[in-house]
Formats: sequence, C-alpha cells, structure tokens
Amino acid sequence: MKPIIVLNLKAYRESTGEAAIRLCEIASEVSLTSGVRIIVAPQAVDLRACAKVCEVFAQYCDATDAGAFTGSITPKALKDANVLGSLINHSEKRVPHESIKKTIDALRGAGLQSLVCSKDDAESAQVAAFSPDFIAVEPPELIGSGISVSKAKPEVVTNSVAAVQKVAKIPVLCGAGISNASDVKKAIELGAAGVLLASAYVKSADPKKLLSEMAGIIG
Ligand code: G3P
Repeated sequence: MKPIIVLNLKAYRESTGEAAIRLCEIASEVSLTSGVRIIVAPQAVDLRACAKVCEVFAQYCDATDAGAFTGSITPKALKDANVLGSLINHSEKRVPHESIKKTIDALRGAGLQSLVCSKDDAESAQVAAFSPDFIAVEPPELIGSGISVSKAKPEVVTNSVAAVQKVAKIPVLCGAGISNASDVKKAIELGAAGVLLASAYVKSADPKKLLSEMAGIIG
C-alpha cells in the first residue's frame, strides 16, 4: 500500500467552517496531483460540507445505531453524509477498549473504515486484535509540540509496526509533531504506512506548499 496522509483538523479556529473547506480543497488538489491518498478529519459540524470536496473521516464516532441517543455521532449518519470512516480513541478523545471494538464493528457494518489511535506499541498491539483498517501511534507528549515522533522517538514507530505485525497485517501510521516533508520521509523509512498530523497543516502560512512537499516525498 502506498503511504497515506491523514490530516486531523481538530477544533482549531483556523480549521472551522469555511476554513475547513479551504483546507479540504487543498488536500483534494494535492492528492490529485501527487497520487497520494489524503484523508481529512474535520469537526463533526463540517463533515457533510467537507465530504463534497475530499476524502473525509470523522474525528470520533459512537457505536450507537439510529434512535434515541442524544448527542451521538452514528455510523449511519456518517455514511449518509458521505463520510468514509472515523478516527477512534484519539489521545484527545480516548474511549474504553471495549468501545473501540464495538465502534470498529459498527463502522464496518455501515461500510465505513476505522483508524484507531494508540499511545504506544503495547496499545497498538492490543487494538490490532480488534481488526481496524488502520492504526496510528501517537506519543501524547509530542502531540502539538512541533517535535516529530519519527525523529525524536523513532523506536515508538518501529516497535509499534513490529508489535502490530505479530497480531495482524494492519497498516500502522504515526503522528505527533510531524511538521515537514523530512519528518514524513523519516516516518516512512521507519516502516510507517503513513502519517497523521494536525497543527503543522492547520496553522501553516502556506498549507498547499507544505502538503505538496509532504506528498512529494511519498508520491
Ligand atoms: O491527530 C494528529 C495529532 O494528534 C498530532 O497533532 O499537532 O502534533 O500534528 P500534531
């Protein structure tokens, strides 16, 4: 599988509403020109609009079916909004492991993909047993730091890739502090199947240039 790029827009002011759509347009353009799969994860309120522009995952999903579940984000509603999948268990939105398994299954039942986040190699191996489509290892202390996991803690990436491969053949991405093309290159050299990043893209003065450089390293 060619490495992929996942852009988590989180809940930044710079990636909300019209700004989210603009960041999705850039992702779509760069994906088309580079041939690299780029998935964007906007806030829930922006999903339907963003899904008209590029490949979109939710940042979070509940395992609930349609019905009397106030506040829930259901796989069926995501499917209806043309969303392709969801992140699960992001460091800023942790869920119990039994919910991870249920959410993966609920997403799959709706024809959607799952990307489960983990904090280290031990958790990567645990969630691999639930058979998600992707795993992304992100050491919490480096998230938003601008210090790349691939350079500062390369063993987190290599250990996670090795731990997951012992359980199942699931692509392992890495994230936290990924800031430039050289960080992406290093991640791929370490065996990652792609990268998950947020602040460097959302807060970049020139997100198109940054994303083109990152995709250029892969494509
Ligand atoms: O989901 C991506 C993330 O948690 C990493 O954030 O800002 O370090 O790229 P950032």
